[in-house]
Amino acid sequence: MNLQGKRLVLGMSGGIACYKVAELVRSLKKAGASVQVVMTDAAQHFITAVTMQALSGQTVYDSQWDARIANNMAHIDLTRDADAIIIAPASADFLGKLAHGLCDDLLSTLCMARPAHLPLLAAPAMNVEMWQNPALQRNLRLLQADGVLLAGPDAGAQACGEHGMGRMLEPPDLLQEIEALFMPKLLAGKRMLVTAGPTFEAIDPVRGITNLSSGKMGYAIARAARAAGAEVLLVSGPTALSAPYGVQRINVQSAQQMHDVTLSHIAAQDLFVAVAAVADWRVANSSEQKLKKDAAGKTPQLEFVQNPDILATVAALPQAPYCVGFAAESENLLEYGAQKRARKGVPLLVGNLGPQTFGQDHNSLVLFDADGHKAMGPADKKQLAQDLVLEIAQRFKAQA
Ligand code: C5P
Repeated sequence: MNLQGKRLVLGMSGGIACYKVAELVRSLKKAGASVQVVMTDAAQHFITAVTMQALSGQTVYDSQWDARIANNMAHIDLTRDADAIIIAPASADFLGKLAHGLCDDLLSTLCMARPAHLPLLAAPAMNVEMWQNPALQRNLRLLQADGVLLAGPDAGAQACGEHGMGRMLEPPDLLQEIEALFMPKLLAGKRMLVTAGPTFEAIDPVRGITNLSSGKMGYAIARAARAAGAEVLLVSGPTALSAPYGVQRINVQSAQQMHDVTLSHIAAQDLFVAVAAVADWRVANSSEQKLKKDAAGKTPQLEFVQNPDILATVAALPQAPYCVGFAAESENLLEYGAQKRARKGVPLLVGNLGPQTFGQDHNSLVLFDADGHKAMGPADKKQLAQDLVLEIAQRFKAQA
């Protein structure tokens, strides 16, 4: 994972969202980061330093006057080795201090004393009226002009019982935003359409034909592309996955729907990555009503008709985006992968051996292009997706 070895300073200011940050720390640690927690007094009204110390495995600092710091300069020492500062939750008060350069406690002072190159990402969390207050909005504009990055907030039900903007991002979404800090923005300003997941071809209103694709690889690619700066549209067959934060998703069922949605959005895209496991055939004689069991034991006779090939259709467009295909093969991957790339007319085809990788978190890939092939992995699908997106971005740039 790309947080391996990253040193994060996690600053917590006061807000009920502090309880979610306990979970965030666990995820950050699991992703390989070291987490130095610094808390304001207000944060400690919501969660104890003991909890944060136990979860982070490091001493929590909360005072500029901490006698344990030999040189009494925690505000300098804590940031010099850091790779990023994350403020979560970032209260209205703390954002105000940050915007105006006030430093009257350890956390605000260390933000002020941070080296200019050190990224600072703040995850605002507050009541909807506080969020909408012109003073807060004015402070946000100042912060953005100073290069402070914001993650969220989200809209929804609030702990106070009100409803609206101001909820801190959920820990998995915040983790995604933190990971994105470290991804080179090679796709900034580019649009990418990704198809993902299986398709579902109806037999009747309650039955259908699908496949074992979980959508994990396609979703990981959508997420990594967004982290690399792209505006991503995910056209997804039925999966159990949540849309990655910041990615627009359109849900579809059948191959024909996936084809229609893709083609209606393709003109605006710079890149097209077809990860979906699209059914090759649909049922020609699907029934509008549920098929009934025959008393004499006669079974229904299904007839099939071929689905449109979305990837080949897009690749053949006169103004085709840069196209990347996927191929899951159960055997002869090297031979079939090279043949498939040529048949689909795409510059890059990514092969893997299925179905054993379907639904798994790890995968190995083989990249086929006009010059031959090369291996990538085995690795975690998230890591592979990041490596692949960077590879795609470089190839896209080289041909543009
Ligand atoms: O022909 P095959 O299904 O093995 O090709 C796989 C590649 O083609 C994947 O990128 C898949 O998303 C894409 N595909 C498609 N439309 C189809 C069938 C496959 O876009 N009808």
